[in-house]
Amino acid sequence: MDRNLSMELVRVTEAAALAAGRWMGRGKKEEADEAATQAMRRMFNSIQMRGTVVIGEGEMDEAPMLYIDEQLGTGNGPEVDIAVDPIDGTNIVAAGTWNALAIIAVAEKGNLLHAPDMYMEKIAAGPESVGKIDINAPVIDNLKAVAIAKNKNINDLVVAILDRERHENMIQEIRDAGARIKLMQEGDVAAAVNTAFDNTGVDLMIGSGGAPEGVIAATALKCLGGEFQGKLLPQTEEEKTRLNKMGITDFNKVLFMDDIVKGDDAYFVATGVTNGELLKGVHYKGNAGTTNSVVMRAKTGTIRFVDGKHSLEDN
Ligand code: FBP
Repeated sequence: MDRNLSMELVRVTEAAALAAGRWMGRGKKEEADEAATQAMRRMFNSIQMRGTVVIGEGEMDEAPMLYIDEQLGTGNGPEVDIAVDPIDGTNIVAAGTWNALAIIAVAEKGNLLHAPDMYMEKIAAGPESVGKIDINAPVIDNLKAVAIAKNKNINDLVVAILDRERHENMIQEIRDAGARIKLMQEGDVAAAVNTAFDNTGVDLMIGSGGAPEGVIAATALKCLGGEFQGKLLPQTEEEKTRLNKMGITDFNKVLFMDDIVKGDDAYFVATGVTNGELLKGVHYKGNAGTTNSVVMRAKTGTIRFVDGKHSLEDN
């Protein structure tokens, strides 16, 4: 893929964030999501590429926009797989709280796992912990491993985990071990990405969340030289059948980064919708909106933070 693609892709998440940010705190998550989705689609279609949505807003018959198998781009240029999350944290935007992102991941055609919309157990950590964590190990072992890798005490660690009943035991185990916890209402992609940046104060992300978000987070960690492991968690017979059709018969199979994102030609791009530890959200004043984005490329390991000031006449 052409390296110039990265600067084109950031326009996509910027447009989505600028559109979604208008809905911040208005209690209307569907409207926010729709605005982001439409803006994303419009901008994608101005890029020279032949993209296929493999992780989208919904199955073909469920979502009007950015559905799985939708073709994006001008129809010329590289053939790519696209994973979109126009807003990771739609409730966050509706409530006007912390860490909502507009996100895309792009890889060469055929290289992104076509994860169905089901839960995935996940563990993510930054570069120092590569090869040290294990999704099958007890939580305490992972905490010890990350603490040693980062030259910290366990009680200095911060673990991000979604605030869900299903995580009650895990939360207790983490607290019993002495580590600190950042409970999230939503948005486990941001949390996974945060583990690779010391200034966010997050050392480890753990727990189950959406599988599509897992694919996107794995792409980011690949670009960042970090670690991501996942296990698909089918809840129903129908979900199990779907996995069988994908060739996954062992539901305990650990998906490593190379199983989720093949090769090293991949991009992860995110723009803050609301303020977060890593990215600022969209701010508006007069006819302008400001954005803060991060663009990463796995092939080169380049990470760029991009500040934008946009005239809103055209948005
Ligand atoms: P959306 O904003 O895209 O709906 O998802 C937010 C999210 O918090 C993800 O970041 C996470 O993976 C998933 O939902 C968790 O699902 P659940 O709310 O069912 O626990």
